[in-house]
Amino acid sequence: MTTVLAGVVGWPVSHSLSPRMHHFWLHENAIAGGYVALPVRQHDLSSVLAALRETGFKGVNLTLPHKEAAYALADIADPSASASQAANLLLFRDLQFEAHNTDVEGLALSLRESLGEKATGIGLAVVLGAGGAARAAVLACDRLGAGQICIVNRTAARTDVLVRALSASVKAKLFVAQWNGWETHAPQTRLLINATSAGLNGTASPDVPLELLPGGAAVCDLVYSPLETPLLARARAQGLTSIDGLGMLMHQGALAFELLFGMRPNVSAALRAHLEQALRNGM
Ligand SMILES: NC(=O)c1ccc[n+]([C@@H]2O[C@H](COP(=O)([O-])OP(=O)(O)OC[C@H]3O[C@@H](n4cnc5c(N)ncnc54)[C@H](OP(=O)(O)O)[C@@H]3O)[C@@H](O)[C@H]2O)c1
Repeated sequence: MTTVLAGVVGWPVSHSLSPRMHHFWLHENAIAGGYVALPVRQHDLSSVLAALRETGFKGVNLTLPHKEAAYALADIADPSASASQAANLLLFRDLQFEAHNTDVEGLALSLRESLGEKATGIGLAVVLGAGGAARAAVLACDRLGAGQICIVNRTAARTDVLVRALSASVKAKLFVAQWNGWETHAPQTRLLINATSAGLNGTASPDVPLELLPGGAAVCDLVYSPLETPLLARARAQGLTSIDGLGMLMHQGALAFELLFGMRPNVSAALRAHLEQALRNGM
């Protein structure tokens, strides 16, 4: 039996939950495989990827700051990677790098799981942020059929770049609002997604007026450390549906696991409990 080797490449990468998640599935499904965290600096990315391919790795996940650079190095790409111009998974096929982006479908699956039927009736979604996670959030909302997607970022110039990059790939009407000006759209907002890194590891969450959202709206935070960010705590206190970032992490991971190890693992309550425990223990 061949042992499949894979891992996650990032800088830093010691905080990543991916090795723990993939080991859980390898063990659960009795698959002979290995999945390691690989700290790699930006200027070493292409040489390390070439070396991993030579060593016999099947592929690697990519995390900060490598998703855009990995896409640029790829020979072929799946539609989500092409649309977002970012890859969170590279498969090594003979002499080619094959780019995938499972963040998009991973977030769409997490939103469907949490919102049920409401996931398909999103009129207006607001995405805070304009980095790689925001690109995935816009594409996921579009995949769910949102009619309009409003993008709000602290640095206005980045929102224009994002809209230019994505507008050809999405059916929804994309528009931009100022950080302090999107509240006029709040009463129509059905889904608010924090795709900024604000709220990560004890920093302040974006200071957005949740009280202006309609009853029945949902708030999703892609930050999962802490699991309940200050933004989600406010949403819960207000009776809004709150969706944490662990759902996206697990679903994108399951899609990547299938591409790496050949079977789709379960996103189960046991896996969630395992990862929550790791977060509580500071990993
Ligand atoms: N749950 C998951 O599976 C998953 C997957 C991917 C990413 N994520 C999370 O998503 C977050 C964003 O990741 P990324 O790859 O998009 O990062 P990124 O490319 O570095 O973008 C960071 C974004 O956050 C904004 N930002 C940072 N600090 C802010 C603050 N104090 N107030 C307002 N905006 C702020 C930045 O705005 P400016 O442009 O103004 O600097 C930018 O839009 C990270 O926390 C990451 O862990 C989660």
